[in-house]
Amino acid sequence: MEFFDEYVDMPTPPPEGRVEAMAKVTGKGKYAAEYQLPNMCYGVFVTSTITAGTIKTIQTANAKMADGVIDIITHLNKQTVPGLADEAAIKASRFSLPIFHTDKIFFKGQPIALVIAATFEEATYAASLVTAEYNETNFVVDFDKAHANVPLKPAGKDRGNIDALQLASVQVSGTYTIKNEVHNPMEMHATIAHWQDDGKLLLYDKNQGVNNVQRVFAGLYKMPVDNIQVVSEFVGGGFGSGLKVWPNTLAAAMAAKQVKRPVKVVLTRPQMFTLVGYRPASWQKLVIGADATGKFTSLWHQAKHSTSVYDNFNEGITRISRLVYNIENLKTESAIVPLNLSTPTWMRGPGDCTGAFAVESAIDTLSYQLQQDPVALRLKNLALKIDPDSGKPWSTHYIDECITKGASMIQWQNRPATPGTLTEGDWKIGYGMAVGMWNAGRTSASASIQMTKDGTVVVQTAMTDIGTGTGTGVQNMAYSTLGIDKEKIKVELGNSNLPPAPSQGGSTGLSSISGAIVAVCNQLKTKLATWAVEQNTAFKTVGVDELVLTNDAITIKAQPSVKVLFADIWRKNNLEVVEVMATAAPGEERKQFAFASSAAHFCVVKVNTKTGKVKMHKMVCVADGGTIVNQKAAANQISGACVGGIGMALTEYQTIDATLGTGIGNDFGAYHIPVNADAPIIEVAFIGKPDVNSNPSGSKGLGEVGIIGAAAAIANAIYNATGKRIYDLPITPDKIL
Ligand code: MOS
Repeated sequence: MEFFDEYVDMPTPPPEGRVEAMAKVTGKGKYAAEYQLPNMCYGVFVTSTITAGTIKTIQTANAKMADGVIDIITHLNKQTVPGLADEAAIKASRFSLPIFHTDKIFFKGQPIALVIAATFEEATYAASLVTAEYNETNFVVDFDKAHANVPLKPAGKDRGNIDALQLASVQVSGTYTIKNEVHNPMEMHATIAHWQDDGKLLLYDKNQGVNNVQRVFAGLYKMPVDNIQVVSEFVGGGFGSGLKVWPNTLAAAMAAKQVKRPVKVVLTRPQMFTLVGYRPASWQKLVIGADATGKFTSLWHQAKHSTSVYDNFNEGITRISRLVYNIENLKTESAIVPLNLSTPTWMRGPGDCTGAFAVESAIDTLSYQLQQDPVALRLKNLALKIDPDSGKPWSTHYIDECITKGASMIQWQNRPATPGTLTEGDWKIGYGMAVGMWNAGRTSASASIQMTKDGTVVVQTAMTDIGTGTGTGVQNMAYSTLGIDKEKIKVELGNSNLPPAPSQGGSTGLSSISGAIVAVCNQLKTKLATWAVEQNTAFKTVGVDELVLTNDAITIKAQPSVKVLFADIWRKNNLEVVEVMATAAPGEERKQFAFASSAAHFCVVKVNTKTGKVKMHKMVCVADGGTIVNQKAAANQISGACVGGIGMALTEYQTIDATLGTGIGNDFGAYHIPVNADAPIIEVAFIGKPDVNSNPSGSKGLGEVGIIGAAAAIANAIYNATGKRIYDLPITPDKIL
């Protein structure tokens, strides 16, 4: 502890650094599992060893006798959670896996018991002593085999007539497949649950939305949301895995209620592969037709992805086909395929990055058939003014500028027009590109400010910061609205006692809270001005945008000599803390315009002709995210997403073993996340033009667009290098040789 204390008083980081940087690197910032509560005990899951069937018997006697064991929860002795009481309640509960409320087994690895003990080690040992007998039934885990039996359904309205494909001068058809990918953020999902004496539930929990967890628990326990407090002040990555409530959170709450003590449940790394979602395996068939000039005339996109037998997860793979290009004749169809695996969920760029792999690969193939440059081919087909799906004008849309800027950064003119012609010893070199788009959404959010007389302001909102830089963005926006020095602007996030905010997901975080931050800052200035008027009438007629705060006074932008000291305001009005709160929601502009962020990915790869190894040589991503609130955090978002794209393209997949009926190799030895050696220098640039309709900061979400076109760009570069089109991700060396 002394070690850390030396560091906590170090100067605050420079303005472009993260607000939470010092807390994170000194260990002062607490992640969910790091809180210590008096009398806390530990829960460890026992999980199903079969893939499908029912539990016949479960033997806990030996485990109960083990040292430190306090209790063991199974479906036979659990206290019923009202929201899981029967089939109808489960359907309505938004908690899809009714752990300990059924004898049914939906997948291998499903929690069947929670052993609660005084220490984690004792709980882990005792869990190994619990055994079960099952009635096993047949199961299906092989997506490739299962999807053929599931019929497609329309996914969106047809445009024109897809028979036009027959008339196309050039036609490209392909079938694209991607295996399961897992999020596996560095911080394991974890919960500490504590039922307090007043009956209120306190949850320290790893998630991407404290208010969402609160709502789910309000439904499960049929209690008011205000009786549930969720704390997620620091979150070590999410990538979508924290957008749902998972078994660890409910199990901790059930256990804490049963043993009347705080209970901590931390998933193991292998459990992270089965209990917190993943990007589902997918199959896509795509046919695209163009006329002789290269104008796209028709597109038929069919897609299926897996779900579980207890949930209907649908991520919308064909959506991207309806957005990017002008296509007169369009048909999109999809289906979800239930498997006896745990349920998938949203993972960075959900749906769209899967879809983009097919669309952007097909367009690349088309470019070679037409003998047109893929950059030029895309530029002439983009839907730049109107969203082809809603018919609304794009509020702002600069995907064409992303493409031209990216082409110049990668020096696209050096790309060989003929595949396989640029070599360097045993290596073949190729250039590839692709584009991506993402709906730039925004929802209602609230924020508050507390100001003390020394000019320190604390800006608060319930939104989590999963490592994206939300807190830093909040500080930046408060700084530009208020004028107070950044080091006097503190930010508090990730606690459901703070003003409500949406989950941090779908690239809507900053966009949603920016309105609330600007509104609450303006309220603070207005409130201070009403007091300032009593001392200086110059403040009477000044608009809020003209008001500015210095470190010790309120003043007027154009007349800096006019000022009233905070100290005087506080003294005259007998104030301790000035508090303001504001809520801001999107308005009519969301009806008038369509909103999208976009990005273009470019890369250079080297492919070894002897080993099949693909080396990323260079990667460029240019994104349109409206105004960039914080350059460094935004660039981090994009380059991190590019690394995710490299994983998707080259290394990441979960092997599902059809005989064992489960995923295997559930650790970072078997599941290869790109490390520094796998990633090249990634150059990121932004268009940076404000979207004034999007939100008061002018920003558009950036979390997802950094990954959407990435895998396709890499696959296209591999084709340019080798002349080999790979339709199945990830592109491991065996597929190249
Ligand atoms: Mo993202 S998949 O919305 O965390």
